[in-house]
Amino acid sequence: MTKRETAAIVLAAGLGTRMRSSRPKVMHPLAGRPMIQHLLASLAEAGVSRVVAVIGPDMDPLARAIVPHPTVIQAERLGTGHAALQARAALDGFSGDVLILFGDTPLITVNTLRAMLAARGAASDPAVVALGFRPVDLAAYGRLVVGQMGLERIVENRDATEAERKITLCNSGVMAVDGARLFDLLARITNKNAKQEYYLTDIVGLARAEGRACSVVEGDPDELLGINSRTELAAAEAIVQTQLRRHAMEEGATLTDPASVFFSWDTKLGRDVSVGPHVVFGPGVTIEDEVEIRAFCHIEGARVRKGAVVGPFARLRPGADVGVSAHVGNFVEIKQSVLDEGAKVNHLTYIGDAHVGAAANVGAGTITCNYDGFTKGRTEIGAGAFIGSNAALVAPVKIGAGAIIGAGSVITEDVAPDAIAVARGQQKEIKEGAARFRAARKAKKKG
Ligand code: UD1
Ligand code: MG
Repeated sequence: MTKRETAAIVLAAGLGTRMRSSRPKVMHPLAGRPMIQHLLASLAEAGVSRVVAVIGPDMDPLARAIVPHPTVIQAERLGTGHAALQARAALDGFSGDVLILFGDTPLITVNTLRAMLAARGAASDPAVVALGFRPVDLAAYGRLVVGQMGLERIVENRDATEAERKITLCNSGVMAVDGARLFDLLARITNKNAKQEYYLTDIVGLARAEGRACSVVEGDPDELLGINSRTELAAAEAIVQTQLRRHAMEEGATLTDPASVFFSWDTKLGRDVSVGPHVVFGPGVTIEDEVEIRAFCHIEGARVRKGAVVGPFARLRPGADVGVSAHVGNFVEIKQSVLDEGAKVNHLTYIGDAHVGAAANVGAGTITCNYDGFTKGRTEIGAGAFIGSNAALVAPVKIGAGAIIGAGSVITEDVAPDAIAVARGQQKEIKEGAARFRAARKAKKKG
């Protein structure tokens, strides 16, 4: 069988009024990226490279998110059939299969897309394959009317008879259509219905009237959840997180309490990584093999190399690169900094715009003072250096390899390798001073 050409039309012109948002609905993120990009990624994985998105006027950020794919603008929102018709010029002359998808139904899997295309290629040559599902609450959906000859038509809830409303097989909105017939069928749709809209779903009845077959593929309700409100967005997020947790475990990570770990779409975990409870991964994180992420960490835009230990209660911000077998402990924040192999930053510390050499030990309460209110400065800590507790390293500054910094120091000048630097008030001791002080105070109070 020769593989047929496939294109996709993604409908995303809707205002998403129920989101009560100033940005287009499909720009709301799921697992850290806009929902529309989940859909585009699934299409790409299914081998569909020709995609046209139909968007509304004044949705420039959305158009930019869809690049390199072209967008066409539906100036007036006259219904799903009218929206799909706007892609006609962009797909001029295309006669392969056309998948039609909704931008707000982004959880559809690659397997389901493939099943749709396979059904479209069946011997009966169905003009339209509709993706059906059986949701718990039927009220928002069109019903698939299936007879002896397959799918006969799709009827919207509002236009349905009592008997049709009892049908539990609903329209998800996703279709695979014969591209040679699609735009002619769309052009014949009318708006004589309850909503006075041009219903995409009417192409089924029109194709049947031409003597063409139509068919149904049944899908999983979890994949076909449409997102219209923040509550549905949260439900979709929960589904995506469940998938990402399962994937992480299948790839060889241990999650002590999977339900409390939150991933981004692109989180990469190696083998034998262990992740404790209540850990959040923002976008752009790579965790290499045998790393231990202890409870309550927040990690984004960071790399943690083999065998390192992070947390509990650590925050790794963008540009953090934690070296092989390095340790980052509780209440430590690391930003735009590299820790070399075996470096230790174990307690209550801020490391920003810094390089910490191999096996260096950064004591509790150390702060790299990287910002003077105007510009950022860098801190270099050499290999094997020891930074005593509560040191302030005022950048730009270099601590040489093997140097020791006394606790409580405010370091503003570079320190040579293997030197000891102490920068704090000298300790002074007055013998019996405390006893004499108390005696004097007591005498004053009595008198
Ligand atoms: C649609 C289907 C219904 C199905 C349901 C699944 C039709 C007529 N009905 O109904 O059978 O059960 O989805 O969720 O197709 N859009 C545009 N331009 C428009 C109108 C809609 O781009 O003029 C886009 C929306 O942004 C959205 C999608 O099309 O992504 C669906 O539109 P919506 O209004 O939600 O359709 P439903 O009434 O839910
Ligand atoms: Mg809808």
